[in-house]
Amino acid sequence: MPKRPKITIVGGGNVGSSCALWAASKELGDIVVLDIPQAENAIKGKMLDLAQASPVERFDCKITGTANYEDIQGSDVVVITAGLPRKPGMSRDDLVEVNVKIVRSVAENVKKYAPDSIVVVVSNPLDAMVYTAWKATGFPTHRIVGQAGCLDVARYRTFIAMELGVSVEDISALLLGGHGDDMVPLPRYTSVHGIPVSQLLSAEKINACVERAKVGGGEIVKLLGTSAYYAPASGVIQMVEAIVKDKKRILPCAAYCEDLYGVAPGSKGAGYFVGVPCVLGEGGVEKVIQVDLDPAEKTLMDTSITHVKELVGVVRKLYPDLA
Ligand code: LAC
Repeated sequence: MPKRPKITIVGGGNVGSSCALWAASKELGDIVVLDIPQAENAIKGKMLDLAQASPVERFDCKITGTANYEDIQGSDVVVITAGLPRKPGMSRDDLVEVNVKIVRSVAENVKKYAPDSIVVVVSNPLDAMVYTAWKATGFPTHRIVGQAGCLDVARYRTFIAMELGVSVEDISALLLGGHGDDMVPLPRYTSVHGIPVSQLLSAEKINACVERAKVGGGEIVKLLGTSAYYAPASGVIQMVEAIVKDKKRILPCAAYCEDLYGVAPGSKGAGYFVGVPCVLGEGGVEKVIQVDLDPAEKTLMDTSITHVKELVGVVRKLYPDLA
């Protein structure tokens, strides 16, 4: 008998709730949103509210709000959104000390209650939090992946489409690196219905889109007073859909790299999670695709990887047992 996928979202804040909304509207499976005990009633209320949209929106999903980790048992996918968001003036890195503690504790519970799940990490600073979840669960690297590239490339595609006045659907692009302001959108791998973007926009205009995408999270924090959530959650659910439907989609994700993109050549187990194009399917990260980079692109990627390593260094210093 086919079974509906079970999708757990840990953290019922703006990102977690939006994930539940997108997942339900796409009828991806049964949904559990887990929050801290102090927020138990609120998350139960929110999920009951979402369930009551189902007759109108026409999705059949069991939707549960909870503060009890036993409810995540049997999850196929666990999305970790728990942690504090940014406030104006903060960088993602400023969240590392407080969020590493939260993500570590969540990951330990995921290991205990959903040991066979694929984990999608969203909490910031993303690249260090994926590493934390990997170490704290001990899961194989193909079952730990971070959401950042789907969001970052969606922002970049949005800006290119706005500049050209064409459909966002026709913009295809590649973005590499960490989820920091030194992420690496790649104009050379950006096309508009197959037409290289360089044939349609000046280098100056393309560069403006690249630069805006790089600080796209901060632009929203400034306006909104907190981190973005609709587009981040949409990026998460794009990944979850690829996994639960075994779509083998190629998406930019924070995936474990060892001997790839110049990360940890020849050192077993000493790799890092970095944004790279991956094949996502029922096995999680089924493959990392290595693309050719010219010297300028490689320099940008190296800078971004150095930043990721520094952040992971902070985690290791705070929790030597996660090293
Ligand atoms: C952003 C946050 C969620 O980029 O990292 O909007």
